[in-house]
Amino acid sequence: MTTVSEIFQTMAYGPAPESDKQAREWLAKHGGEGGLGGEFGLFVGGSWVKPASGEWFDVINPATTQRIARVPQAGKADVDAAVAAARAAFPGWSGLPGHVRARYLYALAREVQRHARLLAVLESMDNGKSIRETRDLDIPLVTRHFYHHAGWAQLQESEFAGATPVGVVGQIIPWNFPLLMVAWKVAPALAAGNTVVLKPAEFTPLTALAFAEIVAEAGLPPGVLNVITGDGRTGALLVDHPDVDKIAFTGSTEVGRVIRKATAGSGKKLSLELGGKSPFIVFDDADLDSVVEGVVDAIWFNQGQVCCAGSRLLVHEGVAERLVAKLRARMEKLRVGPPLDKAIDMGAIVAPVQLERIRGLVSKGVEEGATMWQPSWACPTEGYFYPPTLFTDVSPAATIAQVEIFGPVLVAMSFRTPKEAVELANNTPYGLAASVWTENINLALDVAPKIKAGVVWINCTNVFDAASGFGGYRESGFGREGGREGMWEYLKLQWDEGRGTGDGSKRSVAKGASRRTRPSSPVPLPPIDRTYKMFIGGKQARPDAPYPRAIVAPDGRRLAEVGEGNRKDVRNAVEAARAAEGWAHTTGHTRGQILYYIAENLATRTDEFAARIDAMTSCGPERARAEVDAAVSRLFTYASWADKYDGQVHPTTIRGVTLAMNEPIGVVGIAAPDDLPLLGFVSLVAPAVAVGNTVVAIPSEIHPLAATELYSVLETSDVPAGVINIVTGSKDELSKVLADHLDVDAMWYFGNRAAAAEVERASAGNMKRTWAEWHARDWLEPREGEGREFLREATQVKNIWIPYGE
Ligand code: NAI
Repeated sequence: MTTVSEIFQTMAYGPAPESDKQAREWLAKHGGEGGLGGEFGLFVGGSWVKPASGEWFDVINPATTQRIARVPQAGKADVDAAVAAARAAFPGWSGLPGHVRARYLYALAREVQRHARLLAVLESMDNGKSIRETRDLDIPLVTRHFYHHAGWAQLQESEFAGATPVGVVGQIIPWNFPLLMVAWKVAPALAAGNTVVLKPAEFTPLTALAFAEIVAEAGLPPGVLNVITGDGRTGALLVDHPDVDKIAFTGSTEVGRVIRKATAGSGKKLSLELGGKSPFIVFDDADLDSVVEGVVDAIWFNQGQVCCAGSRLLVHEGVAERLVAKLRARMEKLRVGPPLDKAIDMGAIVAPVQLERIRGLVSKGVEEGATMWQPSWACPTEGYFYPPTLFTDVSPAATIAQVEIFGPVLVAMSFRTPKEAVELANNTPYGLAASVWTENINLALDVAPKIKAGVVWINCTNVFDAASGFGGYRESGFGREGGREGMWEYLKLQWDEGRGTGDGSKRSVAKGASRRTRPSSPVPLPPIDRTYKMFIGGKQARPDAPYPRAIVAPDGRRLAEVGEGNRKDVRNAVEAARAAEGWAHTTGHTRGQILYYIAENLATRTDEFAARIDAMTSCGPERARAEVDAAVSRLFTYASWADKYDGQVHPTTIRGVTLAMNEPIGVVGIAAPDDLPLLGFVSLVAPAVAVGNTVVAIPSEIHPLAATELYSVLETSDVPAGVINIVTGSKDELSKVLADHLDVDAMWYFGNRAAAAEVERASAGNMKRTWAEWHARDWLEPREGEGREFLREATQVKNIWIPYGE
């Protein structure tokens, strides 16, 4: 007699297909051939329009290789029309009370829910991902995103008081989560009052088009959301469009870099969510069976085409062999097949080009000597399928350990100590996400802050929620999507209206010229032949070049000489700043105490500093004194903030806590404005160091003496060596060097537009975050010169997910 356990052994799955009838009907409704060749228009100004370009391309179902639709390749005139429609809709939409926008977003959530089945099936057909994922994950998360952001629209006036929408936003999204990316982009943008031109990926435009229809059904005013299809050329047109105020992009780091360069100096706000090579760290006390399921979700979810896929398995040596054996057994049981089959684990790869990329990288892995393992069963031969793949014996420098494969390929490496695990985890240029598996919460919470990543999942992986920000560190990009932090990507501060004009100085100070002459100060001036060095690594350091730069008063008097900094000085300063990284691990209390101490030492020398400022700028003794007083007050402000700029606990949908931690960015380059040379300098350096960054600061080029005079204040204020480094010289040249430097993590530039553009372009090298301004700020005015805006720029949010329960 056959036993039950024998039946379990032999039981084969029967097919359990989800019906595609509704999706086919929807495609047929849009014209085309026999219901399987829907031909779409562009969604502009609330209706479907034919593309002026007259060009179309096919949309293919990757599981069947059949054409399922044709969509337009939008050209310049089409992009212009979409941007114009968004611009026309902006005053009306942004002028609505938050509550009205909240109602619209709520309606979108409801409409998506109502159409959930159509959208889930369409997504599977278009992308090749399994219906289980589209139905149970993608679409519910889309809905959740709109509900959550309906809430932010409602609360906007109170929670983001003083902030206004950015304007017309261009959004460019990838093919791996087509509708989810629509939601991540569109929901916060619309909630905040922006209008949108959205370009879905060329491989997967259909659910974005279906969503456009939903937007119309929900009664949103025409032009609030416009959807244009096309490939990278359309994306580039949108990026370059002069009437777009912000670009939000998700995709490859290569294209992210192109967009960073293209928008440099344009004044467009930018957020980039790029690639990753995320570590999945398993300590020897982890529950290995949970780990196996975690790995399945980390790398075989969505065929591994996930920017935050746990693609590098880092295992403690002691359990590596056991875990690999368990993983292989599990891989034998995974099922690859038709995405609409409800019992399928993995569907198809999105397109032949992606399949080729995966194959190429897997061959490279084998060539480089790693051991490749795949299950014994075969994938379907029709359609673009690829089996789950595991590499062992991988060296950390191997191509497959460094390059984003974006496929179902896991590379395993082992470590001996937590320190080694962290080093391996951080050993790529990326920093998107990480998973940490251990039953020891102390270990988990010790390791999580050390990993350079925007999200850390503890004993879980690939968990997302609208309440929690998602986004990267380092070459994984900048900006966050979701949560309160994500809303800031679509807002600007009200006083900042009219951005994009001016030359960085309220009083347009001419270089070294005698702009205004005033009677000389009543306070005796310091000796005029003083020569200042640089301030590097806590010491006054001789500049590399022996030719000093003369600093001249407006009336032509020579006041002093400062070092003419060059590439070598910047290099030394960056090295010193990097070596002082321990600053990030001091307590907020300690950092606050040191800032207070700087303030105290500066205050005791108020007269001397005021005289210096007046001599340099001829601003008059009263104004000079007011500037010193304001600088002291500003130092107090950030001394206060140092232990108060706390994070949040996001109420996400897991049972547990999601900690949003404000972390320092690392080494920050700062080029200070010319206006108010002491206050401008302090207003930027103080917030950066208050939250744990170390800085390389370039003072005002024409009025550097207030900053050089600070050397001795810093020396007597217990500032650890290397936390604040100061290099004098040509501001724009030195800024470019800092922006180019691969070991600088962020660059702030306050000056002229051309140099700001250079800084933004150069930052693309390691995708460092930039804050470049060329319009004037009133540094004396607290609303413009201090506060949360500065602290936000000085930090990046890491979300740490900690589920509860056994
Ligand atoms: P991609 O970065 O080229 O495409 C993403 C989006 O950007 C698409 O909508 C595309 O049309 C658009 N685009 C392309 N060139 C553009 C340009 N010059 N200006 C403006 N927009 C442009 O990614 P692709 O080619 O689809 O995939 C290539 C690789 O990128 C993948 O193998 C994967 O490694 C990575 N990738 C990463 C994603 C992520 O979420 N981090 C998403 C998609 C791809």
